[in-house]
Formats: sequence, C-alpha cells, structure tokens
Amino acid sequence: VIFPFAIESLASHHDRAAFSSGAEALDRHLATQAGQDMRRRIAGCYVAIEKAANQIAGYYTIAATSMPLSEISAKMAKKLPRYPLVPSIRLGRLAVARAHQGKGLGASLLIDAIERSLRSDIVAFAMVVDAKDESGVAFYRHHGFEAFASVPMSLSLPLAEAARRLEAM
Ligand SMILES: CC(C)(COP(=O)(O)OP(=O)(O)OC[C@H]1O[C@@H](n2cnc3c(N)ncnc32)[C@H](O)[C@@H]1OP(=O)(O)O)[C@@H](O)C(=O)NCCC(=O)NCCS
Repeated sequence: VIFPFAIESLASHHDRAAFSSGAEALDRHLATQAGQDMRRRIAGCYVAIEKAANQIAGYYTIAATSMPLSEISAKMAKKLPRYPLVPSIRLGRLAVARAHQGKGLGASLLIDAIERSLRSDIVAFAMVVDAKDESGVAFYRHHGFEAFASVPMSLSLPLAEAARRLEAM
C-alpha cells in the first residue's frame, strides 16, 4: 500500500485547530504551543498530512534533552562512561487524530522521529519519552522502550537498539 501521509515540519499554513486526538491536552498543545516552541527553538514539530484531505492526521515534537545515568538499567549503564547525564532526544508529544488511529500512523511517526534522530550529526544515546497515561506507557513498551528506574511514566530506548530493530523490519 502507498503511505497516504506526508510528514512535514509544522508551518503556518497547516490547520492545527481542527486536529482531534481524543487527548485534549495534546490537541491544545498543537493548536496553541507547538508553533511558538518551534520559533523559540524549544522543540521541533512534525505533522503527518493526509494527502487526500490536506489535514493534520498526527504530530510529534522533538528536542534535545539528557537523561540521568541512574535511570538506565544497570546492564546498559555498565557499558557507558560514568558521566551523570546521558545525551538523549526527547519525543515530547505524539498524537494521532481519532479518525486515523489504529492504522499504523502512530508507529510511522515514532519511526520518523527515530530516523530523524539517527540522521542527526549531533549524536544522542537514547530517545526519551514521557507517557501521559498507562495507555501511552503500553504503546512505548510495545515499541521496545523501557521505563526509567525510578519514574514509571518516563521511558527510554537506546537509538542503536532502535536502529537494529528498524533494520530487522
Ligand atoms: C497512542 C497513539 C499515538 C497510537 O497511534 P496509532 O496510530 O493509533 O497506533 P498504530 O496503529 O500506529 O499502532 C502501532 C502498534 O502499536 C500498538 N498500539 C497502539 N496503541 C497502543 C497502546 N495504547 N498500547 C499498546 N500498544 C498499542 C498497535 O497494536 C500496533 O501494534 P503492531 O504494530 O504490533 O500491530 C494514538 O492512539 C493516540 O494519539 N492516542 C491519543 C493520544 C495518546 O495517548 N498519545 C500517547 C502519547 S503519551
């Protein structure tokens, strides 16, 4: 099947107000905050545009962050230098419009964010996410993320492992 979406950087001509994911805070973030965060270099925002309708079908935000070494599993941390902070990329928000949920778009947006991170000249060890609820935690665990040692709603996935998973797909 042909992927019916184009993933683009959020721009002023995109209609953000119509986006509805069923998670009001995520809809509001896109409508009122994401553009401003882009202009101020707080986070990038990428939208999936449904080609046929020219509407936003999903979005994610992405920015630099770091995660405490103490939140990484002992097995993994053993292989890392003893710096207290591990360079990471935060997937700040991820949402798919209700009408498009369950068709693989959420996974496609996650893969796009991972590939974008892997392409960057600025390296990061892991992708980090803050899930908004248990269903979000389940979505990220399904895709290989592991909860922080002490913060169950924050999860991480080493980008090298993400790259191996993508190659195996
Ligand atoms: C969570 C969300 C992003 C998933 O997007 P989606 O397009 O509906 O999901 P996909 O169709 O891409 O699903 C991809 C895979 O994840 C699985 N999955 C989807 N939602 C899941 C969930 N909540 N828990 C566990 N697995 C989930 C699917 O079963 C599918 O598995 P498969 O590839 O093995 O068949 C979307 O439902 C959404 O935006 N919900 C409201 C906002 C939200 O909860 N955001 C989460 C960030 S905290």
